[in-house]
Amino acid sequence: MAIEIEQPSVGLSRVAVSETHGEDSPYFAGWKAYDENPYDEIKNPSGVIQMGLAENQVSFDLLEEFLEKNPEASGWGMNGTSGFRENALFQDYHGLKTFRQAMASFMGKIRGGRAKFDPDRVVLTAGATAANELLTFILADPGDALLVPTPYYPGFDRDLRWRTGVKIVPVHCDSSSNFQVTPQALEAAYESAQSMNIKVRGVLITNPSNPLGATIQRSVLEEILDFATRKNIHLVSDEIYSGSVFTSSEFISIAEILETRDYRDSERVHIVYSLSKDLGLPGFRVGTIYSYNDQVVTTARRMSSFTLISSQTQHLLASMLSNEKFTENYIRTNRERLRKRYNMIIEGLRTAGIECLTGNAGLFCWMNLSPLLEKPTREGELTLWNSILQEVKLNISPGSSCHCSEPGWFRVCFANMSEQTLEVALKRIHDFMEQRKIEREINIISTL
Ligand SMILES: Cc1ncc(COP(=O)(O)O)c(C=O)c1O
Repeated sequence: MAIEIEQPSVGLSRVAVSETHGEDSPYFAGWKAYDENPYDEIKNPSGVIQMGLAENQVSFDLLEEFLEKNPEASGWGMNGTSGFRENALFQDYHGLKTFRQAMASFMGKIRGGRAKFDPDRVVLTAGATAANELLTFILADPGDALLVPTPYYPGFDRDLRWRTGVKIVPVHCDSSSNFQVTPQALEAAYESAQSMNIKVRGVLITNPSNPLGATIQRSVLEEILDFATRKNIHLVSDEIYSGSVFTSSEFISIAEILETRDYRDSERVHIVYSLSKDLGLPGFRVGTIYSYNDQVVTTARRMSSFTLISSQTQHLLASMLSNEKFTENYIRTNRERLRKRYNMIIEGLRTAGIECLTGNAGLFCWMNLSPLLEKPTREGELTLWNSILQEVKLNISPGSSCHCSEPGWFRVCFANMSEQTLEVALKRIHDFMEQRKIEREINIISTL
């Protein structure tokens, strides 16, 4: 007879049991509610509409048209079976040269040709998620910190902190400056890290911003770069939405600032980019680190072995992005369509009595529902978020999940659905606001 010996449960690594993944945030809880009861115009018209997913579906037809006209791009190329072999056999971690060239040229094009990118500095990664994590591994040691302006993309809690052991120190920005970074806020965050004996290794900005849907002004970028230089720290610019700017001249890349400074002090600057947003291809997992620092490029390339892009995907995208006619038409049309969507949602929300921060980029707007809060606190914001999810059946992202220091702001995505679904969502918001108005009037009358 086997003797039962009581065993202590087998242990796991610190990373495995760490809470810094951030998956318990309402940002992800809302996605779950959508998955359990997704809206469908015919099959489930009272389901939850997903407005918490920054996905670009407005230009999918252009990608499909390209594939139809260029079937060799998604096949094995002109070489038939030997093309299959080229894709299937060993991949050098430098990635396909043709793809790096196409990526560098596309990054220049979406910046209106105002900045140039050297294909030899393009390090390929499986999306911006991997790019941000790799850079953090390279720039900081466990226990060190990156300064990140708030509100920021909730995924950064996972990407920058979880496996690296690096901390995020928030740079608090608020509505008094349209949530733009100020030198005072940067200095305060730096000092707060110092007072906790935490070494600051860099600043990470997102330009255009997720969740604000707005670009960073040139003067602010200059101030941030000057700050990084003064403190002798790194500057990472996540420019994943750089091709989703409605007006091309309104976006200034950190690459342009460096160009105007003759690349002085550029070795502290690193750009993150991906095709998940501008091309609407998050499933393909294609990102890049573009660094002006040779050692960072070499190390990132070595580390990219852990997070390579499939050769077949590189082959397809090399063919797509090196087709000038396609890219020019795509960039222009995608911008026009996003602008139309943006105007549609802003107008609909305004009619319902809701104001948003003035935006010019991205796949979302930053909506102010603070007048509806019963209490101006994080709890008050989450109570409102929960009624919007449960009663209105809309999943939007509460500002607190983006570490916004002012309660009552929400991110609302508009490019991951059809125009018809967006109209349904706007009608639901309109009805909700009307009902809240009636409830307020009844409350006033009953207190008289
Ligand atoms: C600012 C920002 N960085 C990085 C990512 C991750 O992108 P990817 O799908 O390329 O990993 C996102 C996705 O929403 C994002 O908004």
